[in-house]
Amino acid sequence: MTLKLGIIGCGGMGLRHMHGISELMKYSEIMKLEAVCDLHESAANFVASKAEEITGKRPNVFTSLEKMLYQSDIDVLDIVTDTRTHHKFAIEAMESGVNVMTEKPMGVTLKACRQMMDSRKKNNVKLAVAENYRRDPMNRLVKELIDNGAIGTPQMLLDISVSGGGNLMHATGWRAKKVMAGSLILEQGVHTSDLILYFMGDAESIYATTGVMQKERKVGKRPPGIEQFYGHRVEDQFEGQSKVIIDAEDTAFSVIKFQSGAIGQMTMTSGANGYGFGNETIHGTEGTLKLPGSRNGNSPIISRDNLSDSITGDDLLDLVPEWQLDDITSLYFDGSRRISNYDYPFEAVDRKLIAIELHDLAEAIINNSTPEVDEIVGVKALSLAYGALESGDTGQIVKLKDIETGKVNQYQSEIDSELKI
Ligand SMILES: NC(=O)c1ccc[n+]([C@@H]2O[C@H](COP(=O)([O-])OP(=O)(O)OC[C@H]3O[C@@H](n4cnc5c(N)ncnc54)[C@H](O)[C@@H]3O)[C@@H](O)[C@H]2O)c1
Repeated sequence: MTLKLGIIGCGGMGLRHMHGISELMKYSEIMKLEAVCDLHESAANFVASKAEEITGKRPNVFTSLEKMLYQSDIDVLDIVTDTRTHHKFAIEAMESGVNVMTEKPMGVTLKACRQMMDSRKKNNVKLAVAENYRRDPMNRLVKELIDNGAIGTPQMLLDISVSGGGNLMHATGWRAKKVMAGSLILEQGVHTSDLILYFMGDAESIYATTGVMQKERKVGKRPPGIEQFYGHRVEDQFEGQSKVIIDAEDTAFSVIKFQSGAIGQMTMTSGANGYGFGNETIHGTEGTLKLPGSRNGNSPIISRDNLSDSITGDDLLDLVPEWQLDDITSLYFDGSRRISNYDYPFEAVDRKLIAIELHDLAEAIINNSTPEVDEIVGVKALSLAYGALESGDTGQIVKLKDIETGKVNQYQSEIDSELKI
């Protein structure tokens, strides 16, 4: 059986999703690209032409979801538009009986996500969130090392990301606006949150101080690594502007209490001038695990007594004798089952991780099982990132379950009311 995929949103990440489905089509017949859609026909045509170059078949091009659903017989809609529209397109597709993969964040607010969940249940289709970081084989190895007790019981997590320089992420204006992106903290923090919860288990509460450190952001020239994905995109609202004023938080310093009793610090800012750095470590009763990051192929590093006794590379595999990559991941990583690093350029590993998340959803549809990052997992990541923003707004410690249920939603209510969610 071959499922037919339609992509909506042919900007930077939409182009990368096209590479993802094209990668899948090299290895499997479980899904194929049928159609692409973007408000801007030129962007959709660009992505369609690239797909034709790679796969030999040009997908149909649309400029509205309504037409794509009506005229194209797709089984899965892949939503890669700016965050504000995820819930709207997901619900429209699910009401037509079409399964959905949506880019992270699952929805622009928790209320938007709850509406998506109701629609999924009502229409009995599958809904998955494209969380690519956890699917990196190195993050699978980290998870296994933790679960296998390689650092004893995890007690503390330190996730710190400090960057700046006055640029706006990917030079995309919508990321500057609360109502379109939920803030830069949601945009970046939902990835971080998903990984933190994947490694540390569920969180109970979060306390944060948040702020805007660098209001004025340049939206000019992109570095070549980003331009290769974003060069073709069109963004009317911010066209011709060299700078944008951000109207939502770019900084959050948070402390998390996990259900396990562990504590964590999640600190992120894209508003720092000068020195930038990052630290991602998990500290357990028997050692520290330095996380490898995503899509770089680096090995995790474990240190026990001091830094000179670090365990990394293939030596880590001795600590997880039973560990194997799952069938889908292995398929896209040369059939490997036990690897401690890899050497692919960013573009190659990026499209492999997207192929894996699409393949996982396709199997869930065919076998009537649950995709790995389903709505529950997607909502938890959103709740942790919004937990920081809600806590920053109220000055109170917030419980994650109150964010999930909507009991605490002061920060998000402005978005809900503006977008009529
Ligand atoms: N998982 C990741 O690593 C990752 C990386 C980048 C972006 N993302 C996510 O992907 C999504 C898109 O981000 P991006 O950087 O590609 O943004 P982008 O602005 O480059 O692309 C968005 C595209 O959606 C189109 N669009 C907007 N409204 C539309 C509508 N009503 N109908 C049809 N098309 C419409 C725009 O024209 C644009 O081409 C965001 O949710 C973002 O958070 C994820």
